[in-house]
Amino acid sequence: MNPIIIIANTQRTIGLILAIVVAIGMLIYLLFNFRIGKKEVGSEIDLAANRVPYADDDELETRILDKALGWSFVLIAATALVLPLYWLMEPARQENAARGWVGRFESRGANSYEEACSGCHGPNGVGGVASFTLSDADGQFVAQVQWKAPSLTSVLSRFDESEVTHILNYGRPGSPMPAWGLPGGGPMTEQQIHQLVVYLRSIQLDSEETKKQVESGIRDGARRIIVDSNPNIEEIEEIEAAIDEWLDDASLPSSNNYLTYGELIFNNQSGQGAHGCARCHTPGFSYGATSSENVDALIAEWPKLLESGILNSYRPGAGHVGPSLSGAETHFSTPERQADFIHSGSELGAGYGNARMGSGGMPGFGGRTDDLDVIGTVTRSRVLTPEQIDAVVAYERSM
Ligand code: HEC
Ligand code: HEC
Repeated sequence: MNPIIIIANTQRTIGLILAIVVAIGMLIYLLFNFRIGKKEVGSEIDLAANRVPYADDDELETRILDKALGWSFVLIAATALVLPLYWLMEPARQENAARGWVGRFESRGANSYEEACSGCHGPNGVGGVASFTLSDADGQFVAQVQWKAPSLTSVLSRFDESEVTHILNYGRPGSPMPAWGLPGGGPMTEQQIHQLVVYLRSIQLDSEETKKQVESGIRDGARRIIVDSNPNIEEIEEIEAAIDEWLDDASLPSSNNYLTYGELIFNNQSGQGAHGCARCHTPGFSYGATSSENVDALIAEWPKLLESGILNSYRPGAGHVGPSLSGAETHFSTPERQADFIHSGSELGAGYGNARMGSGGMPGFGGRTDDLDVIGTVTRSRVLTPEQIDAVVAYERSM
């Protein structure tokens, strides 16, 4: 047949092309189904995995057993090494965790302090002042005063931590110090208050620095006495020498100035009054009523102070946060017992003196010895020496 004729014949051409396509298709089908791999279903060219023959006994008892024992040894040795290492390192790990905890509490407490407290108590608790509105019993405006906020850098030497927590929770009613904790209606949770206490631990001064602060306050008092009674000495060295001489004498119980020395300790203004007694026992002391002249000046500026009865004269020890001290000698049978009380302060619910009941509000000035269950160290110092406490007791019993 002449190909040209075949090509010319369209029907035949289509038939031929179809035949070729079918032939190629068949070829591919056969190739893939019978030549390249694909096994017939049900045939077992390879054995199923569970029917593969395993090593024989010789092999099992030598190479494979040794391999298993070798690995067991390595793993047991690792466990044996790691366990003692774990126990050796565990205490350090626990301590680090606890320190990390303290560190976090401290830095969160520092942040809260910065936000909520430093405006009144100063940066790092050095003490400051708060503007405060005094009002009378009917809530009427009486005076606007500048109230000293004590330094907090020896607060843990005077109060125990539960007492500080109580102050933070409830504030000091009648003073600018607001309630911070939820129990007192404040905004802070128990944990935030705890963080503040942990922060306070970190800013406590050591004994030497505390002593310096206390003594600088007493010296300031003595300086006023020296300058007032010797208007003609002007040289600073001369004044300082006169102060030294005065203090050396006045601190002796036999001195004529012993009670004045006790009074200076009572009225100590260093640390915004933190180390003295007057801020809690003398009305108005924290806002400038530190002498008769100062009270007169305050009343001249705020005449309602007089009418309201809040402040009518300079009344040392007449009572404010703490009770009136006049008659305190009847509450303590001996000066020694009174000195003991000032040494360690009052405790909530514990009796003191002649069956009086403590609120925990009276700080201890002789150095705290109660156990502190804390991680790390907290510096706690003696605020007043036994001799200074004796002098202040003598002054109090003379009131
Ligand atoms: C509006 C001012 C103000 C703010 C804010 C304030 N305080 Fe006070 N705080 C005072 C004053 C004033 C006193 C002293 C009260 C007195 O004279 O009885 C005081 C007393 C204290 C005391 C008792 C100290 C002592 O030795 O008697 C502690 C502790 C204290 N504040 C901690 C704090 C902390 C912590 C904060 C922040 C959460 C704070 N305060 C915020 C004004 C303030
Ligand atoms: C933070 C306030 C505060 C300061 C500061 C303070 N006291 Fe007190 N004081 C009190 C409170 C509150 C009481 C009553 C006891 C109580 O409630 O637990 C008290 C009670 C006393 C009493 C017993 C009074 C009685 O008859 O019941 C004496 C004595 C006393 N204080 C002396 C001092 C001396 C001395 C100083 C200074 C070295 C001083 N106080 C500083 C708050 C204070």
